[in-house]
Amino acid sequence: MIGLLDRLARPFLRALDPEDAHGVAIKMLKFAPLPPAPRDDKRLALRVFGLNFPNPVGIAAGFDKNAEVPDALLRLGFGFVEVGTITPLPQPGNPRPRLFRLDADHGVINRLGFNSQGADAALKRLVARAAAGGIVGINVGANKDSADRVADYVQLIERFAAVASYVTVNISSPNTPGLRNLQQASVLDDLLARVVDARERVAPNAGPTPVLLKIAPDLSLGDLDDVVGIARSRRVDGMIVGNTTVARPPSLLETEIAKEAGGLSGRPLFPLANRMLAETYVRVEDVFPLIGAGGIDSGATALAKIRAGASLVQVYSGLVFSGLGLIAAIKNALLEALGDDGQDSLKEFIGADAAAVTAEPWPK
Ligand SMILES: Cc1cc2nc3c(=O)[nH]c(=O)nc-3n(C[C@H](O)[C@H](O)[C@H](O)COP(=O)(O)O)c2cc1C
Repeated sequence: MIGLLDRLARPFLRALDPEDAHGVAIKMLKFAPLPPAPRDDKRLALRVFGLNFPNPVGIAAGFDKNAEVPDALLRLGFGFVEVGTITPLPQPGNPRPRLFRLDADHGVINRLGFNSQGADAALKRLVARAAAGGIVGINVGANKDSADRVADYVQLIERFAAVASYVTVNISSPNTPGLRNLQQASVLDDLLARVVDARERVAPNAGPTPVLLKIAPDLSLGDLDDVVGIARSRRVDGMIVGNTTVARPPSLLETEIAKEAGGLSGRPLFPLANRMLAETYVRVEDVFPLIGAGGIDSGATALAKIRAGASLVQVYSGLVFSGLGLIAAIKNALLEALGDDGQDSLKEFIGADAAAVTAEPWPK
């Protein structure tokens, strides 16, 4: 069914404007009669952030921004789904065009700017599916015109904790002016203190919702020292490394499209994202787990992320170029790697190459 859907839809979707194609893909997922995903091999299961993941392959934030299709995505075989970024109030985002494919590079540039239907619309959907099970994380962000951005995060944690498997504090989108300044030490310390406090306040009703921090791959290593130090002292439950990059690697072939402003994702992001993941892993010293995102488009790149320090991985842009078959391809490759290594859990691979990756020359 998934293979058929993929084969029929992909040539059609690829011919459309990228944002129209995304809208059609969401509609198809809403209405496609997908069967439940087959059970995953037990060796792919992991317990992370106190949650039981059937497999470590998630879909990253930004695909299902308004929580319209989390259950369809789970049925496609993802081990977890991250919806959002959700902002408190509805906002349109930046003017179109704002989403670009770099076909020759297998990359994407977006400057969507948190287009969001707002918290009320998403919450209604998430409440309606709350009993459906499956791991659904909720990625939250501040409104562009907000007078108090920290208050936006606090409000969203309070409202969404009860329906979220985990909440991601996204301070790393390059498309909301000034948002990434929240990664600066003094601001971040205050933000995380208030966010974790909000989580504690609602925990008696909502349960112990893990709070994750999603960072940009463009931080300097000095800034990363600060961010990890603060995340540790404020006791966040994990980090996602990372978001899209504002850098443009010199290797890009689509040089004209590369001039578009926005965050770059997909294959050209992999070297930087993987390096920052390993750099984060060695600084975190196993105090909390990491999710690796950025440029995963094969079983080999997913395994490399795990070996660089990720307990779980997320994909987005790779789906545009490789299709839905990527999900099964990654799972099969991970099982094969376990077999070759005589292991019965992915745990053995997590961070195995982190030190080696941090010793390589800095990726261009
Ligand atoms: C079109 C698009 C929209 C995105 N929107 C969001 C978002 O709303 N919130 C967020 O945290 N990340 C967002 N991201 C970043 C992804 O979640 C992910 O971190 C990044 O794309 C790297 O993974 P990839 O190379 O597999 O795409 C978006 C990415 C793309 C391509």
